[in-house]
Amino acid sequence: MLSVLHALAAVGIVLLIPLLCRLGNFIWLYFLRPSTAHAYLHAGPAYALITGATDGIGKALAKELYDQGFNLILHGRSEQKMRKVVDEVRGTGARDVLYFLADASDVDHDFERMIAPYANLNITVVVHNVGNQGFTKERIDDGFSKGDVAGIVNRNAIFSLYLTHTLLPRLRLSAKTGPVLVQFMGSLASEICPPRFAIYGATKSFLKALARGLDNDERVWGTPTGVRFEYLVTGQVQSNSMRLKATLDTPTSETYAKAVVGRMGCGRRKYCPYWVHAMQQWFSEVMGETTQDSYSAAAIADLIATHEKKV
Ligand SMILES: NC(=O)c1ccc[n+]([C@@H]2O[C@H](COP(=O)([O-])OP(=O)(O)OC[C@H]3O[C@@H](n4cnc5c(N)ncnc54)[C@H](OP(=O)(O)O)[C@@H]3O)[C@@H](O)[C@H]2O)c1
Repeated sequence: MLSVLHALAAVGIVLLIPLLCRLGNFIWLYFLRPSTAHAYLHAGPAYALITGATDGIGKALAKELYDQGFNLILHGRSEQKMRKVVDEVRGTGARDVLYFLADASDVDHDFERMIAPYANLNITVVVHNVGNQGFTKERIDDGFSKGDVAGIVNRNAIFSLYLTHTLLPRLRLSAKTGPVLVQFMGSLASEICPPRFAIYGATKSFLKALARGLDNDERVWGTPTGVRFEYLVTGQVQSNSMRLKATLDTPTSETYAKAVVGRMGCGRRKYCPYWVHAMQQWFSEVMGETTQDSYSAAAIADLIATHEKKV
């Protein structure tokens, strides 16, 4: 009897060890680890390039990175909105705020030409933030034309791929004097694949695989180049496309941007920058797929209803 109890206790301890490690990592990452954002400010003026920077998380990230000492290269699609953001940011400091415009739903751009004005700049951080889907009750064959589908895929995935493809030689040059980081703004939607967000969730999974594969390209095969990639698992954040009341689990874009900048370069390739989202991700893993699916369906129905009321 005693040996059975000992065996059960041993099994309990073995099962507990990964949980304790996870808890320790959680406390370190979200509450103890000092920010290392300044590590990307090397070799004279350092530039952060942020896509989708005219609103929401991208705009908040631009302000946060500027406050941390970065010069900025911003991307948007509306000249009027962009000029407003540029004026707002420039009003708080004397560093460069440059910008370019491109509709990311369309990827038939000359990317070389697009980034040519920045070819000699020391770009040390890139945040591929552009993306969204919009809330709809329709399934993909009901409410979306092929063009709509291509637009969602392009602005959430392909635009970032082509931009990275064009920027990589420039980033490797910057990495000769210190670390360089490329971040892809991901979503919990790629983990739980909620109904009516299939294309969006799939594009975020594409970014997740891209981040890991490109990181491996630069790090583990051949001489490491110093360019690293991260995929950021993002839960609900109050923004222009997510018009919800800010709460602990739905932070403002400004709070979320601080979390992103605070954790950048933390050494993980895929992580939640915001601690409450990390807990939500953990709970959803524990739930298992069937519970996740019905829970996410109810949550999406609520979100669609809330956004319909506001339109
Ligand atoms: N908010 C959330 O709850 C949440 C959750 C998970 C993941 N995310 C991800 O976080 C990122 C930012 O989302 P957000 O909530 O901050 O969105 P947002 O407030 O709607 O801002 C999106 C930004 O992207 C730009 N943009 C959208 N479509 C574009 C296009 N076709 N061409 C060029 N620019 C375009 C917008 O420009 P305009 O100002 O001209 O509209 C804006 O600057 C996205 O990748 C999103 O998938 C957000």
